Parts: sequence; structure tokens; C-alpha cells
Amino acid sequence: MEIRIFDTPEEAGKAAADIIVETVVANPAAVLGLATGATPLPVYREMIRRYEKGDVTFSKTVTFNLDEYSSLPRKAESSYYTFMWSNLFSRIDIDGDNVHILDGCAPDKAAECARFDGMIEEAGGVDVQLLGIGTNGHIGFNEPADEFTGGTFEVKLSQSTRDSNIKYFADGNMPEYALTIGIGTIMKAKKILLMATGESKAKAIYAAVKGEVTPRCPASVLQNHPDAVFLLDKAAAKLLED
Ligand code: F6R
Repeated sequence: MEIRIFDTPEEAGKAAADIIVETVVANPAAVLGLATGATPLPVYREMIRRYEKGDVTFSKTVTFNLDEYSSLPRKAESSYYTFMWSNLFSRIDIDGDNVHILDGCAPDKAAECARFDGMIEEAGGVDVQLLGIGTNGHIGFNEPADEFTGGTFEVKLSQSTRDSNIKYFADGNMPEYALTIGIGTIMKAKKILLMATGESKAKAIYAAVKGEVTPRCPASVLQNHPDAVFLLDKAAAKLLED
């Protein structure tokens, strides 16, 4: 894995956006894997800026999001569907038909997960996958476990994830489950950009980069990916010595 350290979250985000924009300029129909949460916001701001400047068009670009809360209507304020449309998709020229976000309200969750994996495969796989990381080392919502996961599945969120994300639910009513792309699917992406900012991520980054490859720290699996780049600010990189 390649580690790049920046002074600020904005600079790390700009570096991620540069790689994404370069990919889309080279192949307008590129397939992007996208993440939600606080970390990718500088990436999305820079993608919007580059689109408005006329550097890039996303009109043929295809996207797949990592995850979505179970049983939360798409139009809910805290859904990842709402997050993506507010923070990125409504501000660029992407075709809504090319946007793929898991439906957490699908009556048959297993069928929804299988449908999603099938669509990724049909699209030719993910060219660039953007990831954040949980303080417990999760990627997507693949929580620490005894085994690495495979394809898309429904997961029970860990207490650590619930504690980190409860702030996004004004009524305190946060779903206990989510649908997430599995580690096997993440590892099939041709290029992976993991972004982490802030001191609260320093331990997880240390474990992912310097620790053993173990499903107890799901992000450590990226040590085995042929093209994984970690884009970190100084605070998240604090425990990495060299
Ligand atoms: C989001 C996702 C999660 C987040 C992680 C970090 O789609 O899959 O793995 O990337 O929980 O969240 P933030 O960026 O809010 O610290």
C-alpha cells in the first residue's frame, strides 16, 4: 500500500479528487465506488469545483455506494441516499440512472444485496473505490469479525459505529442494521483510495497499516490489495513513524 500524508483534510481530499477526476477524464464511463460520512466531504467539494470549472463531465460515469442503513426510507434526512444527493450528485451532471445506492427498505434484503453485486459485476467492476475508516477499523460497514466478509450483505452495526454515527440521527433513532458491500467486493476494485482525517482515526490507521492482516481490523486487508493508496492528514497519521 502507498501512504500519502497531508497537512490538512482539504489537501488529502483534493488529492483523492485529483485521482478520481483523472480517472474520469481518461474514461468518462468509469465506475466509481463512493463512501459517505464526514471524511469524503472535501473530496466531493473538490469534484464539484472541478466540474463547475469545466475540467470534467460525469455524464457517463457510473457510481456504486458502499452502504445504506436498513429500514430507513431513502428520503429520510439521515439516509445515505439523501447524503449523496445533497453533497454530490445534485451538484454535478451525473445521470441518475447511473447512480446505484442500496435500498435499505427492500422487502427481501438478501435479494437486494445479490442484485447490487450483480450490477457491479455487469458494470465491469469498480475502477476507483473511495473508502473512509471507522475508529474500529471498519471499511464500508464491515465491522471487526472472526472472518473477512465476501459479497454485499446485511450487517448488525457495532456499538462503536452506533456511538460514532448517532449524531446524524436528530431523534436518536438510529437503525441497528445496514446493508454493506463486503470485503470481497471491495478487494475486487482496481484501485482503492482510503482517506482518513483527524486524531480519532490514528489507532485504526496504525492497526490497518502496521498491524497483522486480520478481520478484527477489516481495513488491514488492504495490505493485500495491489493498488491501495492511503490519503491521510497528519493527525490520522500520527502513530505511523516512518
Ligand atoms: C460510509 C462508510 C463508513 C465510513 C466510516 C468513517 O459510507 O462506509 O465506513 O467511511 O464510518 O466515517 P466518517 O468519515 O464519518 O468518520
